Amino acid sequence: MGNEQQGGTTTAANKIEPATGKLGVMVVGLGAVATTFIAGVEAVRRGIAKPIGSLTQMGTIRLGKRTDNNSPLIREYVPIAQLNDLVFTGWDIFEDNVYESAAHAKVLDKDLVEQLKPFLETIKPLPAVFDQYYVKRLHGTHVKTGKNKRDLAEQVRADIQAFKKTVDRVVMIWCGSTEIFLEPAAVHQSIEAFEKGLETDDIGIAPSQIYAYAALSEGVPFANGAPNLTVDIPALIELSKRNSAPICGKDFKTGQTFMKTVLAPAFKARLLGVSGWYSTNILGNRDGEVLDDPESFKTKEESKLGSLDYIFQPELYPDLYKDIFHKVRINYYPPRGDNKEGWDNIDIFGWLGYPMQIKVDFLCRDSILAAPIALDLVLFLDLAKRTPELRSIGIQEWLSFYLKSPQTREGLYPEHDLFIQSMKLKNTLRHIMGADLITHLGLEYYD
Ligand SMILES: NC(=O)c1ccc[n+]([C@@H]2O[C@H](COP(=O)([O-])OP(=O)(O)OC[C@H]3O[C@@H](n4cnc5c(N)ncnc54)[C@H](O)[C@@H]3O)[C@@H](O)[C@H]2O)c1
Repeated sequence: MGNEQQGGTTTAANKIEPATGKLGVMVVGLGAVATTFIAGVEAVRRGIAKPIGSLTQMGTIRLGKRTDNNSPLIREYVPIAQLNDLVFTGWDIFEDNVYESAAHAKVLDKDLVEQLKPFLETIKPLPAVFDQYYVKRLHGTHVKTGKNKRDLAEQVRADIQAFKKTVDRVVMIWCGSTEIFLEPAAVHQSIEAFEKGLETDDIGIAPSQIYAYAALSEGVPFANGAPNLTVDIPALIELSKRNSAPICGKDFKTGQTFMKTVLAPAFKARLLGVSGWYSTNILGNRDGEVLDDPESFKTKEESKLGSLDYIFQPELYPDLYKDIFHKVRINYYPPRGDNKEGWDNIDIFGWLGYPMQIKVDFLCRDSILAAPIALDLVLFLDLAKRTPELRSIGIQEWLSFYLKSPQTREGLYPEHDLFIQSMKLKNTLRHIMGADLITHLGLEYYD
């Protein structure tokens, strides 16, 4: 059962293209999360701060037996891009550069933002693809115009092509606002139907899908930090596979859902029942304002509600989880800014049905939790693009770890349990590097 490779180079690892040259990061929406991500990377590059919360930067991976004592840093074991090689650009519906937008978001201390000003103010947004029908609370002024949605997609493709000339590889990440709730429709069912819909300005195609279509058409991997439908449709899954442009799930798993996908697996592992889970949040940033619109909230609500059902599997454990009352609320409360407070009241029951309660009060910083996720997704999607075994499968299920709504092949239920997701991610890294998987069986120690 030993690991012969011990983290050394293997045939499988040899096939991964090296991360040489510059990695261009195209960010859609330069708001609180995006500016915290970009400023954070620059602060780390300058040695001013540490990349806390980032698995790619601080995480280790065990190779071989526990007794081998071989746990290299992930970034030294797997060929991911170096932070010094990241180059940023993006789009926004407002003209503010990243310095102005970071100052407006008030996530980072003024001192830090001022220190980084010369770098941050060089990143100026390109005009966005935007339509207020899809985000009611925003009124964009820095937007592209075109004769139809296809024309807009072509303009985004031209932006990508121009950026590609200045860097070696490109990844796109949506850090834009939450769009209204859209159900998959006929226009989403095939690439042909989607392209026809672009011509006819089909209402089922949201701006996020125009960016994603442009990225995938250019062979560029695409990540989605918001709960929008975006690439969760047959047309774009197919395009992702056709053009070897990896995609993953949606909606950064940061605060409350992160806690849910930690606590729920624990209750299930101990066979403790749950009768109710009430979650409420107060949030005062622009994201909170957008989510105050019922149509955008519905998109978020669906994403936040999904996890429990999949973790608890009520069909397998009807006595424990069949009748859970699960409610999620988000209230816009400006005084808190980006510092969200999320409360959870969990009604559980134990031996012989006796009830108990758990209260969680998470005073979190939304964008501080989201920024390292954005970084890791960008670096791992770029790795997937350079890995022959991963690049043409489309959906990268191993990145579920980072997302409230993991994406899976049709007919496959998503894994929401954070610890299963973490194991899946690390085993995928071991696998592509040609190392033995770790199953935690451990019988070999007792031979
Ligand atoms: N912070 C978190 O913990 C967290 C967690 C999960 C998901 N998210 C999601 O991430 C997204 C960003 O969050 P945020 O706090 O940075 O919000 P934000 O409002 O500060 O930033 C969003 C930015 O996107 C821009 N935008 C909107 N539509 C656009 C378009 N079509 N093209 C280009 N730009 C566009 C807005 O002008 C704004 O600058 C939201 O959808 C949010 O729900 C955040």
